[in-house]
Amino acid sequence: MLTVDSLHSFYGKSHILHGVALEVAKGEIVSLLGRNGAGKTTTLKSIVGIVSPREGRVIFDGQAIDGLPVHEIAGRGIALVPEHRGIFGTLSVEENLAIACRKGSLWSIDAIYEFFPRLGERRHSRGANLSGGEQQMLAIARALVNNPKMLLLDEPTEGLAPVIVDELIAVIRSIKAAGIAVLLVEQSLRVCMELADRHYILEYGRIVYSGSREQFQHAEAERDRYLTLRSA
Ligand SMILES: Nc1ncnc2c1ncn2[C@@H]1O[C@H](COP(=O)(O)OP(=O)(O)O)[C@@H](O)[C@H]1O
Ligand SMILES: [Mg+2]
Repeated sequence: MLTVDSLHSFYGKSHILHGVALEVAKGEIVSLLGRNGAGKTTTLKSIVGIVSPREGRVIFDGQAIDGLPVHEIAGRGIALVPEHRGIFGTLSVEENLAIACRKGSLWSIDAIYEFFPRLGERRHSRGANLSGGEQQMLAIARALVNNPKMLLLDEPTEGLAPVIVDELIAVIRSIKAAGIAVLLVEQSLRVCMELADRHYILEYGRIVYSGSREQFQHAEAERDRYLTLRSA
């Protein structure tokens, strides 16, 4: 479904991604792990066109999308849920959803409330008054009402209490069950190991490890070498 090949991205003269290559198949959850500053967010931004890769290819559903404008890439069915959640604090939950909603989406606002009962209960609350976990759910919900085929999640559990993390894990599983592929950037090894079918590790803008769920469970040496771990 998504193939990233030999991607090179820069901020000005800083060369950040050095030939990143990865794949996500239909229906898969794939994790992208790596220390702070490894280039995980830059990889996601390069896929959705916020950063224009200087070299390499991004193929989605059989078509090259690198170099296309952000809105066009979104229109192909890839949605990024950014690290700092990108919701509107002064708007209510319902308004946040309404402005993101695409006509003809499989995900109506009512369907979202069924999927996230918490958001239904808080539909009239302002974004700024939601808890961290609720804000993350709203950010994911805003991506879903765009009817994506694939979600890119940037550190969705960062800063959240363990019980909320478990709720998010359940939400991400249901998203997969709904047929949406997920590329998950996470610092929490537990979350990645519970969710992902395959894993990649990024270090200094290069993929230094890739393995299946089973392989990764036994890849203790690589986990120690490349990751600073957050246990929860
Ligand atoms: N807007 C930017 N301008 C310049 N450098 C940046 C910018 N964003 C990130 N970087 C640098 O790019 C590198 C990779 O960052 P990032 O992709 O955010 O890493 P990660 O998400 O893995 O923590 C870091 O060295 C960071 O300092
Ligand atoms: Mg990041």
